[in-house]
Amino acid sequence: MENGKLDRGAGCLTVLAPAKINLTLEVFGKRDDGYHALRSLVVPVSIFDTLTLTPLDSGIEVTCELVGLPGENLPMLPEPRNNLATRAALLLKEATGYPGGARVHIRKEIPIGGGMGGGSADAAWTLRGLNSLWGTGLTVEALMELGARLGSDIPAMVYGKAVCMEGRGEKISPISCRWPAGTDWWIVVVNPGFNVPTGDVYRRFRSGLTSTEETYINARFALERGDGKLASASLLNSLEEPVFYKYPLLAILVERLKSAGAAGVLLSGSGASVFAMAANYDHALKIESQVKRDTGSWLWTRVAKIVPDGVMVAHGPLEARV
Ligand code: C5P
Repeated sequence: MENGKLDRGAGCLTVLAPAKINLTLEVFGKRDDGYHALRSLVVPVSIFDTLTLTPLDSGIEVTCELVGLPGENLPMLPEPRNNLATRAALLLKEATGYPGGARVHIRKEIPIGGGMGGGSADAAWTLRGLNSLWGTGLTVEALMELGARLGSDIPAMVYGKAVCMEGRGEKISPISCRWPAGTDWWIVVVNPGFNVPTGDVYRRFRSGLTSTEETYINARFALERGDGKLASASLLNSLEEPVFYKYPLLAILVERLKSAGAAGVLLSGSGASVFAMAANYDHALKIESQVKRDTGSWLWTRVAKIVPDGVMVAHGPLEARV
């Protein structure tokens, strides 16, 4: 598993669970099951939670540590037993009949309720990690099917690379990214420190009549070819309207990022995080420092890279394993 490292001495597996952003998110309308039909280009980014999975004789224990996350109004994590990672571990155990248990420790760096799939990433990589640790042998496709039972974003996160996601989120088609050597897409992520509830955003969504087909085609072509300039001009999120209506601060942050020189700015998923595309790493640092100066030091920001193949480079002691 590319994002994991087995420590045979300690008997545990360390897994990096990347956040995602949606370069495009088109919402087409409500389906009979209450969910919305959508199409979205989803890519992993180099902000990740680190999961340490340790085998236990029985039971599932999930613990969590927050690392430099935004705001004093930090939304509380769900109770461990309702945590998506706990539910993922229990589901894998039930689906495979595995008799043992595990401890899952999550070192959280992805903003919570931030539209970057943090909870989904934890669930997805709990499934992938425990499947390795327990030797339960399910395919990635089978794990994606299990993930779909827990949340619409989870199949894409289990796949872990650039994808187009359709249906309510469960239909995943891989995007083959042939980027010229040395191509990097740097982004600046900002988060206001509050949580936007996804269900509420979809409830307030009203479909418009504007066609988004051309933008989608351009964004997809840009992602396949690594054309960051075209991607920056082809960002699209149908949920911006209902989100900015209720949380106007986020629309202001978009304007600040544009004034700071970002090539393209978009709400990530259902928010509250917003990301800005930069021309290169130095440009990203410049945008970050200007938006912090203009907005105030309360704003959580991170410079990160889009990682289309999903392989995370960990910092610090894990660096050696990549
Ligand atoms: O699937 P998940 O639990 O992540 O979705 C959270 C909420 O977002 C759902 O309860 C639903 O209200 C809304 N949603 C939707 N259509 C989708 C995905 C999510 O309406 N395709």
